[in-house]
Amino acid sequence: MTELAMKEPAMTPGPHVRLSDLAIDPYPILARLRETTPVAWVAETRMWFVTRRADVLSVLRDPETYRTDSPRSTIRDTFGTQMLSAEGDLHRRYKSQCNPPFNMRSVQSHAMPLITAHTDALIDAFGNQRSADLRPAIASQLAVFTVASMLGIPPHLHARILDWYASFAAALANFTWDEQVRARGHASAREFQDAITPVLHDLHHAADPSLLGALSRAGPARLTDPEIISNALIVLFGGIETTESTILNVMWTLLSHPAALAAIRGNWSLLPAAIEEAMRWEPAVQSCTRHLEQPATLHGTTLPAGATVQCMLGAANRDPAHFPDPDRYDMTRANAGDHLSFGAGKHFCLGAALAGAEVQVAATRLLQRCPALRLDPDRPSAPRGFEFRAPPTLHVLVA
Ligand code: HEM
Repeated sequence: MTELAMKEPAMTPGPHVRLSDLAIDPYPILARLRETTPVAWVAETRMWFVTRRADVLSVLRDPETYRTDSPRSTIRDTFGTQMLSAEGDLHRRYKSQCNPPFNMRSVQSHAMPLITAHTDALIDAFGNQRSADLRPAIASQLAVFTVASMLGIPPHLHARILDWYASFAAALANFTWDEQVRARGHASAREFQDAITPVLHDLHHAADPSLLGALSRAGPARLTDPEIISNALIVLFGGIETTESTILNVMWTLLSHPAALAAIRGNWSLLPAAIEEAMRWEPAVQSCTRHLEQPATLHGTTLPAGATVQCMLGAANRDPAHFPDPDRYDMTRANAGDHLSFGAGKHFCLGAALAGAEVQVAATRLLQRCPALRLDPDRPSAPRGFEFRAPPTLHVLVA
């Protein structure tokens, strides 16, 4: 523990919450917090959990008070200053320059054909297999391929992405500031920089539609090379496990609700709403982290300067004040799209349209091309995890 971690507050309100319990089934625990202690100090993470949807929105929509650009941010420590560790004009500058390849129009025209062709190739690779684990076979490969293609990372570097990712994931979750974990995160960021900087300079003259291509040609407002690398790192990190886990959660949800699935198979126009509701019901990203530099009061609770706040998205998505009968998976729910699974406010997910396309294509192609697709009863699985949440494996029978 370093001086960067905050001291335990004198009063320790709220029920005892164990991360190991949250990782298994967070929803009853979060429901209790939401009801009794909507802003709760959680000793194990040394952070304040915010569980009501309205409070989560107030935090995420108030970047002046609840900040991402804190020296206590493990994201900033690992990737340097980029859009998810910046506020105000700097954040606007980074996000507006990174946005073009990720807006709905580019996703439809450029990304969608790539995603569809790649998904079909991955399903073709099932061949005559009777069973598959959708995590390695589809979700992981599709997420890595898509984000690497959109960034413009050349194919010879794709094999290194998962190694980099593993050390970044450890460094971002390194809330005890373990020096070895930090050093590994920094070493991977330097390796990424060394591999990508020559690519960036080659792209300068080419009409390349990727993010690195667009950023390298941005004219007088062009970001510096270190700014491009740091923003590329958050895009790379932001696009892998999030999308992989969402594909798995959506497929697990659909395959675990046979009546809903039968209705979809009879009417494919029901699929988008069924996916939206699955994203509300079992979000892959369970929290957004913010830091306080000054004391603030939230829902009657005084938070000290230096506090770290975790906006619990899974709790907000099941807040009965907004979603009646919230624990029920109901694909006819009219307001399912009000979920906060992509965050809210200025830091709303840059890749939401891209991720939406990946999930939509993966679910549609899998269900349409594999009419007998069902969960393997001999190898059951279920979502797990406290920050990122997904089934560790998803074994299905294909034929
Ligand atoms: C279904 C998959 C995804 C989910 C559930 C998801 C979720 C989120 C959430 C909750 C945030 C807000 C973080 C915060 O406010 O602290 C966020 C931000 C972000 N996401 Fe995603 N994401 C997904 C896919 C992607 C993809 C595919 C990319 C990149 C291509 C991406 C890039 C980013 C970036 C760069 C930010 C920071 C935006 C900013 O600071 O303004 N995400 N995402």
